[in-house]
Amino acid sequence: MFHDTFGHIPPLMNLDFASFMHRFGEVGTAIANDGRDFQVTQLQRLYWFFVEFGFIREDGEAKLFGAGIMSSYGETSHAWALRNKLKVFNLEEVMSTPFRADVIQHEYYILDSIPELESNLNHWFERTY
Ligand SMILES: [Fe+2]
Repeated sequence: MFHDTFGHIPPLMNLDFASFMHRFGEVGTAIANDGRDFQVTQLQRLYWFFVEFGFIREDGEAKLFGAGIMSSYGETSHAWALRNKLKVFNLEEVMSTPFRADVIQHEYYILDSIPELESNLNHWFERTY
């Protein structure tokens, strides 16, 4: 409950993020309904490394963003300590990077632009279908 209320709902007030999530849902539904398990895994990784554990750059500064970070004191402290060692968000790389859901994350990605990510997701979807 705390994770959803504190981590997932507030960023939906950002129109760019809300638009991305809407499109993510459309793409995910289409792919899941088509039984494309590998592509579903790729989308899970995108969700993990951005929606749950992503940083975002704002005015040149790294900002904590993901719900998995924002709703966990331990993850927040750990992630913030690594803010100078973030990996630049790259959709292809993220989609090919496995994750573990049962541990504190050891690497985080930073995204520069949510609209750009949505555009890249659309391009990926067009290539996939
Ligand atoms: Fe979550």
